[in-house]
Amino acid sequence: MPERIRIAPSVLSADFARLGEQVLEAVEGGANSIHLDMMDGHFVPNLTFGPPIIKALRQQTDAHFDVHMMVENPERYIPALAEARVDLVTVHVEAARPLHRVVHQIKEAGILAGVALNPATPVAAVEEVLPELDLVLVMSVNPGFGGQSFIESSVEKIAQVRGMLDERGLKAELQVDGGIGPDTAERVVRAGARMLVAGSAVFGSPHGIKGAIDVIRRNGERGLISH
Ligand code: DX5
Ligand code: ZN
Repeated sequence: MPERIRIAPSVLSADFARLGEQVLEAVEGGANSIHLDMMDGHFVPNLTFGPPIIKALRQQTDAHFDVHMMVENPERYIPALAEARVDLVTVHVEAARPLHRVVHQIKEAGILAGVALNPATPVAAVEEVLPELDLVLVMSVNPGFGGQSFIESSVEKIAQVRGMLDERGLKAELQVDGGIGPDTAERVVRAGARMLVAGSAVFGSPHGIKGAIDVIRRNGERGLISH
């Protein structure tokens, strides 16, 4: 079986008045995961939603739920997210203190654990916990808003994380988030990313949700062939 990449539409750019419907459309359109951006107005200058809305969405689908916590004190919300039966929780290395303890708390709650790096945070910040992780998220924009431009230096950072994982034989997922769409998918995959988060490129696409997922996947997979 040839290697595939995974597409995780971020509902941040969905129509919040029709959130359930849009999530189902993404799932039916081939999304491998639903990326849920929790923001608290402190860690990032924007507010979105928390566990109650995620729990309500969970009633609609058994799809893989990937929660990206852009919040201070992320440990507070882990029990409620476990109750909502989310699959994966990603915390920011800049907000989770101590990082090792928070990662263990997530795993003890029966949830896969991810750690995210802001654009200005060096990959060394995640090195010590790498063997414990199910996912590393390289942010390719400063978190807080959808629709921002991809930061080019992220390509090199993805390659660094890919190198660290491969060198140690670690199987953690390598996810990229921010400014991902048909034009950036190929080069982030070539650098080593395998799970692509896309918000505005999916929910704002003139080709519809499924059409957008298909083209991002197709372009991304070109990055696999040219390895
Ligand atoms: C930004 C969020 C992203 C956001 C990406 O802080 O973490 O998941 O939805 O949006 P796009 O894909 O539009 O850059
Ligand atoms: Zn996100």
